[in-house]
Amino acid sequence: MPRKMISLVIVAIATASCLALVGLGESGAPPAAADEVTLPPPVTSGGMSLAEAIGKRRSVRRFAPTPLTQVEVSQLCWAAQGITEPDQGLRASPSAMATYPVDVFMIDATGLYQYDPGKHALRRLAEGDMLARLRSAVGQAPVRSAPACMLLALDYERSRGRCGDRAERYGLLEAGHIAQNVLLAATAMGLAGCPVGGMDEHNCIKVLGLPEKLVAAYLLPIGHPEKGQ
Ligand SMILES: Cc1cc2nc3c(=O)[nH]c(=O)nc-3n(C[C@H](O)[C@H](O)[C@H](O)COP(=O)(O)O)c2cc1C
Repeated sequence: MPRKMISLVIVAIATASCLALVGLGESGAPPAAADEVTLPPPVTSGGMSLAEAIGKRRSVRRFAPTPLTQVEVSQLCWAAQGITEPDQGLRASPSAMATYPVDVFMIDATGLYQYDPGKHALRRLAEGDMLARLRSAVGQAPVRSAPACMLLALDYERSRGRCGDRAERYGLLEAGHIAQNVLLAATAMGLAGCPVGGMDEHNCIKVLGLPEKLVAAYLLPIGHPEKGQ
């Protein structure tokens, strides 16, 4: 095979593998930039009723290895922090004084991605098996089993100015709102998750190579429940 063609094949394989989290190649549009994938629009009506999702939600700790699709990732990110009122940029989860100190990250065997609510896009921050790295810092069963994990991380610099001494309490409350939205959205799609708070909130950030000012509030391992769960 000519050298030029070999390098094209290598680039194609690399691109396909690092975008596997968001299912690009199955149904998606091309990425807006090399390291950014615009997610499909979220589904904002129909589906399982809220009452049914509340009734069905359960913390699940054993998952099938099936990766999440682009559509599923889109819906989970939107439920977490999607823009629901574009004029003022208000989001799916409430935030004290609309300071939005929680950043949303997705981690899987292909990389680490940050959700950009304004663009409804995922920006790739790191390639490779970042889930394995996370698992080295968090030995919890659901994190070991799930094919993907959402991280909710607090940046208190964003909220301290307006929220003062209440920034930490407000931030954790806000992470709780977001987590519940995500868990209910997962349930409504036939997925499941488990809210994990039992981890070292600084070490998680460190192993993922994220800025040290961030504090991990919650991990939300998510996937298809293993049969029989
Ligand atoms: C703040 C918080 C922290 C939690 N941390 C963990 C955890 O570290 N590991 C885990 O397996 N489950 C964790 N859970 C899940 C609880 O164990 C679970 O919600 C509880 O057993 C009730 O079950 P249910 O969620 O299915 O209703 C946590 C839940 C909350 C609300």
